[in-house]
Amino acid sequence: MSIRGSTRVLGVFGDPVAHSLSPAMHTRFAEESGEDSVYVPFHVLPENLETALHALPSLGIRGVNITVPHKESTFRLVSEHTDAARAMGAVNTVIVDGERLIGDNTDGAGFAADLEAHFDHTGWGKGPVVVLGAGGAARAVVHALTVAGVPEVVVANRTLETGQALIGQLAPETGRAVALPSEELQNALPRARLLVNTTSVGLKGETFPGLSLDALPREAGVYDLIYNPARTPLLQEAEQQGLAVANGLGMLVRQGAISYARWTGKEPRVEPVIEWLEGQLGN
Ligand SMILES: NC(=O)c1ccc[n+]([C@@H]2O[C@H](COP(=O)([O-])OP(=O)(O)OC[C@H]3O[C@@H](n4cnc5c(N)ncnc54)[C@H](OP(=O)(O)O)[C@@H]3O)[C@@H](O)[C@H]2O)c1
Repeated sequence: MSIRGSTRVLGVFGDPVAHSLSPAMHTRFAEESGEDSVYVPFHVLPENLETALHALPSLGIRGVNITVPHKESTFRLVSEHTDAARAMGAVNTVIVDGERLIGDNTDGAGFAADLEAHFDHTGWGKGPVVVLGAGGAARAVVHALTVAGVPEVVVANRTLETGQALIGQLAPETGRAVALPSEELQNALPRARLLVNTTSVGLKGETFPGLSLDALPREAGVYDLIYNPARTPLLQEAEQQGLAVANGLGMLVRQGAISYARWTGKEPRVEPVIEWLEGQLGN
């Protein structure tokens, strides 16, 4: 990679930011699409976020990703929002257009694109879909499912009230919330076309007590947003039962590729980047 006077500058704001996979990923996108751009990690402390955001137009920076802990604060600081950002109350992508800062959130679109890549044969769009968890990632997932027209969404969360609040905001017509674990959750499985884990359960090999995948139909898919480890106990159990499975690495890469396309107008190929990251993660 060579940097010239004309090189477009992109980046990510986070605190911490050193662990982020985004710089490596976006460098691959630039190589893949032949775009003259560079993607820089910016370690931005919370007290400097507003100044850093407002400096973007004058520095000629075309856009940045926003990561922990700045997604909600950035939502409050940008001048405009996309529908996705508004639905999530959080911004993961800022697009700079002249003096305007447009806040977007590409997580849901990345998830939907990855579902299409993996689960076309399951008819997931016809629902019902069971979503485990009701945090930030679940918001992106439920929003994407409702945008895709899924007729029935069941959110199962450890804290029932959080699940109810999410459904009330994002899927009041088509959704319902149940407790995790519960008999109601188990009873929802026989009709489900897709089960999605959006919780952090499985990151360290944990399982869901009281959840048995036996009840899922044979043609259902199981998606886990966790990608490291590549196969959580949930995905291992689903695989043993012969169900279609996918982890969240594709979602990560696709949400990044959508951001990249918003900034550059170029849609990079994602498959080589997913394969490369699998290698990096030792999957
Ligand atoms: N692949 C991707 O691109 C991608 C994108 C975003 C996030 N993720 C992953 O998704 C996961 C969640 O992220 P997030 O931002 O949504 O986190 P979050 O906002 O903190 O939400 C965490 C969720 O997990 C539930 N939970 C946590 N520990 C639990 C336990 N022991 N038993 C049952 N439920 C538990 C919480 O339930 P309560 O409400 O009861 O606390 C909540 O619903 C993380 O592993 C993250 O890495 C992946």
